[in-house]
Amino acid sequence: MAPKNASKMVVVESLADLRAALSAQVGDWGFVPTMGALHAGHASLVERACSENPNVLASVFVNPTQFNDPRDLEKYPRTREADIALLRNHGVTVAWFPRHEELYADTFRYQVSENLLSHELCGKFRPGHFTGMLTVVLKLIQAARPTRVYFGEKDYQQLELVRGMLKAFFVPTELCACPIFRDEAGLALSSRNARLSQTGISTARAFARELAHPEHTLQSLRTSLETLDLSIDYLEDHDKRRYGAVNIEGIRLIDNRPLSTHHESQKESKL
Ligand code: PAJ
Repeated sequence: MAPKNASKMVVVESLADLRAALSAQVGDWGFVPTMGALHAGHASLVERACSENPNVLASVFVNPTQFNDPRDLEKYPRTREADIALLRNHGVTVAWFPRHEELYADTFRYQVSENLLSHELCGKFRPGHFTGMLTVVLKLIQAARPTRVYFGEKDYQQLELVRGMLKAFFVPTELCACPIFRDEAGLALSSRNARLSQTGISTARAFARELAHPEHTLQSLRTSLETLDLSIDYLEDHDKRRYGAVNIEGIRLIDNRPLSTHHESQKESKL
């Protein structure tokens, strides 16, 4: 069955067209911000938004200010037509492809930075990344003023930083956290996976499997990952969750898992 909005999705770019498209509908808006190269992980957020809101906005913008490595920005996949088709097929009301000159009319003179969590985990390896991310997310949300915004737990640190920002700046939009969408082997779907060879995919799946292994300590996890063809950025436990970032074939992949009750009881027994 075709989704309810399949035939009438509107594609906009300018802020003026965005505003006109938003005000043409009545009722709540769910918003899914993305950088495109859309896959089933993004689709799961869109589906959730469609099930909870009469209107859904999705944005596709490869945000240059959150790329600390210019080569990474250059290589980021851009698949506009396929993205439009995926959003249309999942029942999105408005697909927004913001214009750089409008989003960054201030030429990034104004920035949102966070001074604690943004220095941990990925923050240690990607200077400036979270400032660029928070800045663009605030701009997108302020431009669209949605009722709800949807973020994936795949980027858990991002999710927590956005949660803190919305609270700090009294933004009335409700944040909805969505579970990680994985392939049949447990690998978290990511736009970056498309750049891996078949061997790289097998390594990435082994990384996901080891990270999820309920009996690994951080040390035994490290030891088992060292047998694979990858380099480790970090493996850390925070607030009952295990986080990992690795590089495979020059592609940086992140993942996280809630710590199992086994880990919790191990920790308790050491107290
Ligand atoms: P992007 O990497 O395109 O991801 C957009 C949203 O999809 C994020 O909330 C991300 O956590 C979620 N997502 C991606 N893969 C997922 C998966 N396998 N399972 C569940 N959710 C998944 O994250 C960004 O873009 C940008 O930083 C952005 C927020 C758009 C700001 O530029």
